Amino acid sequence: MSYCTVYSACWESICLKKINRENAVDRQRVLLIFFSFSSQTRNLLQGLSKGLGEYDIDVEWLQLKTLETLQFPPGSYWATLKMMLTTFFRRRIPIEQLDPDYFRPWDLIVLAGPTWSYHPSGPVLSLLDRDGERLLKNQEVLPFISCRGYWRMHHWGLRRLLKEKGAEVLSPVVFTHPVPEPWRTIGVFLKLAGKTPESGKSWLHNFYPKYGHSNRQVNDAKAIGLILGKHIQGKKDLGTLRFPTPVPAD
Ligand SMILES: Cc1cc2nc3c(=O)[nH]c(=O)nc-3n(C[C@H](O)[C@H](O)[C@H](O)COP(=O)(O)O)c2cc1C
Repeated sequence: MSYCTVYSACWESICLKKINRENAVDRQRVLLIFFSFSSQTRNLLQGLSKGLGEYDIDVEWLQLKTLETLQFPPGSYWATLKMMLTTFFRRRIPIEQLDPDYFRPWDLIVLAGPTWSYHPSGPVLSLLDRDGERLLKNQEVLPFISCRGYWRMHHWGLRRLLKEKGAEVLSPVVFTHPVPEPWRTIGVFLKLAGKTPESGKSWLHNFYPKYGHSNRQVNDAKAIGLILGKHIQGKKDLGTLRFPTPVPAD
C-alpha cells in the first residue's frame, strides 16, 4: 500500500468521524427515566418510545435500579398492607448511582413511574432527593404516571418537587387501569397479595379480565410519542402541549 493510499484513507476516516460527531450534536435527544414494579410503566413507555422513534430523535432509557430487592408481587396480604403503609409515608427506596453521562442537557426528560399510595414511588423519590437538582435543573420534564386510578396527589406532589429542583415541568401524561371500580382496586390488591384475580378460574375474571394497562393504552402512548416527536423535531414549544388527563381508558 502506497503512502498516498494510507494518507487518503486516514483523511477520509477523520472527515467521517467529524461528520458523525456533527450529526450526533445536531440530533435531538430524549431521556426516559423510569421505575416500574410490575412492568406497567415500562409497557407504556415502550409505546411512547415507538412513537418518538418515528422521528430523527435519539431515545435513551434510564431504569432506576433499587439497592434492595423489590419482589413483585409482595405475595401475601400482610406484605401488601405493609408496603402500602410504608409507601403512604413516602418511604425512600435507595437506588444505584447514575452514570455521569446522564447529567447533560436533553431536549426532553420523561420522568415515569407508578403511583404508590397517592405518592410517587420510593425509587423516584430517592432520585429526586439525591440527583434531582443536578439532573433536572433547567430541563423540560414530562411527568408520566401509571396508576390504578388515583393520580392527582401524586401529580401535585411530583410537580412541586420537580419545581423545587428547578425543572420546567410540562403537563403530565397519566394512564389509569381501564377496569371500573371497585374491581380494579380489589384486583390490584389481590394481585399484589400473590393471587391471580384475572385468571379464567377466578370468580373475579368477568369483572377483572386483566391486570394493568391494555394494548390500546400502549398504542395511545405511541400516539403521544408521535405528537411529542413532531414537536421536538419541529423545535416547537413543548409547554403548549396538553394531553387529556387521564388519557381516556377503553
Ligand atoms: C404499594 C402500592 C401502592 C399503590 N397505590 C396506588 C394509589 O394510591 N393509587 C393508584 O391509582 N394506584 C396505586 N397502585 C397501583 C399502581 O400504581 C399501578 O398498578 C401501576 O400501574 C403500576 O405500575 P408499574 O408496574 O410500572 O409499577 C399502587 C401499587 C402499589 C404496589
